[in-house]
Amino acid sequence: MATLITNISSLVTVNANGGTARTGASMNDVGEIRDGAILFDETIEWIGLASEIDADSIDADVIDAQGCTVMPGFVDSHTHMVFAGSRSHEFARRLQGVSYQTIAAEGGGILSTMRAVREADLPTLLDIAEPLVHSAMQHGTTTVEIKSGYGLTLDSELRQLAVLEDLREMLPITFVGTFLGAHDVPPEYAGRREAYVDHIINDMLPRIAEQRVAEFCDVFADTGYFTNEDSERILRAAATYGLKAKVHADELTPVGAAEMAARVGAISADHLLHISEEGMEAMKEAGTVATLLPGTAYTLRLPYAPARAMIDRGMVVALATDCNPGSCFCENMQQIMSLACMNMRMSIEESIVASTLHGAAALGLASVTGSLEVGKRADIVIHHVPSYTELVYHFGTNTVMSVFAGGQEVA
Ligand code: NIG
Ligand code: FE
Repeated sequence: MATLITNISSLVTVNANGGTARTGASMNDVGEIRDGAILFDETIEWIGLASEIDADSIDADVIDAQGCTVMPGFVDSHTHMVFAGSRSHEFARRLQGVSYQTIAAEGGGILSTMRAVREADLPTLLDIAEPLVHSAMQHGTTTVEIKSGYGLTLDSELRQLAVLEDLREMLPITFVGTFLGAHDVPPEYAGRREAYVDHIINDMLPRIAEQRVAEFCDVFADTGYFTNEDSERILRAAATYGLKAKVHADELTPVGAAEMAARVGAISADHLLHISEEGMEAMKEAGTVATLLPGTAYTLRLPYAPARAMIDRGMVVALATDCNPGSCFCENMQQIMSLACMNMRMSIEESIVASTLHGAAALGLASVTGSLEVGKRADIVIHHVPSYTELVYHFGTNTVMSVFAGGQEVA
C-alpha cells in the first residue's frame, strides 16, 4: 500500500536534479516546498504541492503532517558501530587532560577495543550494535556505513562484518560495510608494521572480497598508524578486488593523507582536521568527498576541520557521526548538525545537504537515496518542527516523529 504524506509545512527535498551533489553556494538551497505532499511506496512516486493532489482520489494511507517538516533520512557514511567493551575510563582520563595518543601508546585506544572484540562472539557483537543502530534510526538515520577494524585478524574482521548481515535481517534500513583492517597494527605484528600491511594485502583482502562482506576499504593514515605509502599499497590492492577506497585522513596530525586519498581515487577522505591547502585542491580536482566528523573534534577537543574553506572552494562536504567507543560515542546525526553549525560555521542548509545527499555521495549511493526525488528510495523522516530552520535552533532534543525506510515505517 502506498503512503501519502500531505499538508507538510516544510518539505525539504534536497533536490539534486539527478546529480549527486550540491556544491558551493547551491548548498544553501535545500529545495524546500512549502505546504507540500509526497506519495511513495518503496520508492518515491510523486512530490509536489499539497494543493495539487487529491488525497481522497488515490489509494494510499494518508498522513496529515500539518505543522511538520519532512526531509530525506540521514545518511551516516562513517561509523564504527560494531564493537565490544567500553572506553569510558579513557574518556574520563581525557577530561583530565591526557591525550588520545598518550592513551594509545599505553596500549589503550583502538587496541583496547580490539581485545574486547576478539573475545566477543557474533551474538555479543550484535547485542551491542543493534540498540545503537536502532537509536540512530530513531534519530532519523536510514542509511548507515559500518567499518570493521577492531579485530585485526582475518577471522575477527570477518566476524565484525558478519554482524551487518544480521542487522539487515533485523532492521529495514540500509547498511554498507567497510573493511578497515588497517586501523592499527595488532600486537602480533608490533614493530613489524610492513609485515602486517603485507598480510592485509596478501591474506585478508582476497578473503574479504570473496565473501562480499564489504564494498569499501578504509585505512587510518596518520602518525603512529599507517603511512601514506602503506595506505596507497593497501588501497590500490583493494581496488583490484573491486573494493572502493576511503581514508581516515589528517585526523591527528598533518601528513598529506588528503592528497594521497585524491591520488588513489578514493570516494571520500574523512576527518581532515589538519588538511593542507594542497590537500583541499587535490580533493576538489579528484571529486573526493570530504566527510567531516565534528563529533570527534568535539570529543577529543581538537581543532575542527576547515568546513568553511572547503565549501567556499566548491568541495563536496559530507557530515557523519564516526560513532565509535573511543573518539566519538554518538549515533545522533542531529547532534552532528548542531556541532557543524555552531563550531564549523556551516549554515543549517549546508548541514542538511551534508547529512543527506553528500553522505549518500560518500557511499556511491547518491542516485539511490539522500534526497526526495521521484524514483529514489523512500527514505523519509517527519520532524515535529514547523520548518527545517528550527532543526538546529531547537537543540538537545530529538525532533524525529516518524521514520520511513524504503517506504516502510520503522520508527
Ligand atoms: O575515526 N581514527 C581512527 N579511528 C577512529 C577512532 C577509533 C577508536 O579510537 O576506537 C576515529 O576517530
Ligand atoms: Fe572513524
